[in-house]
Amino acid sequence: MTDYETILVETRGRVGWITLNRPEALNALNSQVMRDIVAAASVFDADEAIGAIVVTGSERAFAAGADIKEMESKSGLEMVMDDHFGQWSRFAEVRTPVIAAVSGYALGGGCELAMMCDIILAADTAKFGQPEINLGVIPGMGGSQRLIRAVGYYKAAELILTGRMMDATEAERSGLVSRVVPAADLLAEAEKTAATIASKSLPSLYAAKAALDTAMETPLAEGLRFEKHVFAALFDTADQKEGMAAFREKRAAEFEGR
Ligand code: CAA
Repeated sequence: MTDYETILVETRGRVGWITLNRPEALNALNSQVMRDIVAAASVFDADEAIGAIVVTGSERAFAAGADIKEMESKSGLEMVMDDHFGQWSRFAEVRTPVIAAVSGYALGGGCELAMMCDIILAADTAKFGQPEINLGVIPGMGGSQRLIRAVGYYKAAELILTGRMMDATEAERSGLVSRVVPAADLLAEAEKTAATIASKSLPSLYAAKAALDTAMETPLAEGLRFEKHVFAALFDTADQKEGMAAFREKRAAEFEGR
C-alpha cells in the first residue's frame, strides 16, 4: 500500500478507514493532507472489496481547518494558479459512501471536509464552524455553498458572517449532523454504520449516492428523471434479483456486487 505522511489508512472488513494524523496542528489540512486523503480515497474507491469509507480525526480535532500557516503569505494569483484546494473535488466525487466521524473541532476546511462526506456522525464533543471571516477571508473548500444546502440560508449566514462555532446538539438540530453519539462510542458507531452500508449491493450503493448527489445539484424534474433511469437500470443487476428473491424466500440477501 502507498505510504502516506499525514494520515493512517486501514481496512477493516469491507470498510476503508482514513484517520487524519497531524496532532501537532489539530489535523490542519495542508496540501500534503489533501494529496494523501485524495490518494487513499481513490485507492478504496477503485477496490470492489470496499463498500464504505470512514474519515476521522482525533478526539480533540477532526480538523481545525485549512493550514493557515501554509496559506498566509500567498497572493490571490498564487491561490488561483495553484488551484490551492482544487484536488478536494476528487474526494467529493468518490462513488463509495463516505462517513465523517467527527470528534472535537471541525472548523473551516474541517467542516467543509465533513460536508463532502455522505453521513456526518458527531461525538457530543464536536464543534462545527466556518471561522474564515475572522481571518479576513471566506470559506474556500465549498462551505459557502454546502452549508446553506445543509442548514438553510439563515443559519449558514449567521455562522459564516460571525465565525461562531456550534456544538453537536445545535448541529444535529440544524440538519448538518446525521446523528450525535457519546464521544466514547463514536468510532464503534461509525464502524457499525459503515459495515451496515458495506454489506449492501455495490451497484445500488453507487446508484443511491449518485441520486443523492444529483438531488443536491439539479432542479427537481431533472433529479426525478435521473432517479427513474437509475432505478430501472438496477433491475439488470444480479443483486436486484437476489435482493427480491431473498425477500420472497424470507432469508438474508447475499449480494455479489453485480
Ligand atoms: N492551520 C494551521 N495550524 C493550526 C490550525 C490551522 N487551521 N489550527 C490549529 N493550528 C495549530 C496551532 O497553530 C497550534 O500550533 P503551535 O502549537 O505550533 O502554535 C496547534 O495547532 C494547536 O492549536 P492551538 O494552540 O490554537 O489550540 P487551542 O486549543 O488553543 O485552540 C482552536 C483550538 C480554537 C481550534 C484554534 O487552534 C483555532 O482557532 N484554529 C484555527 C481555526 C480556523 O480559523 N480554521 C479555519 C482555517 S481557514 C480555512 O479553513 C479556509 C477554508 O475554507 C478551506
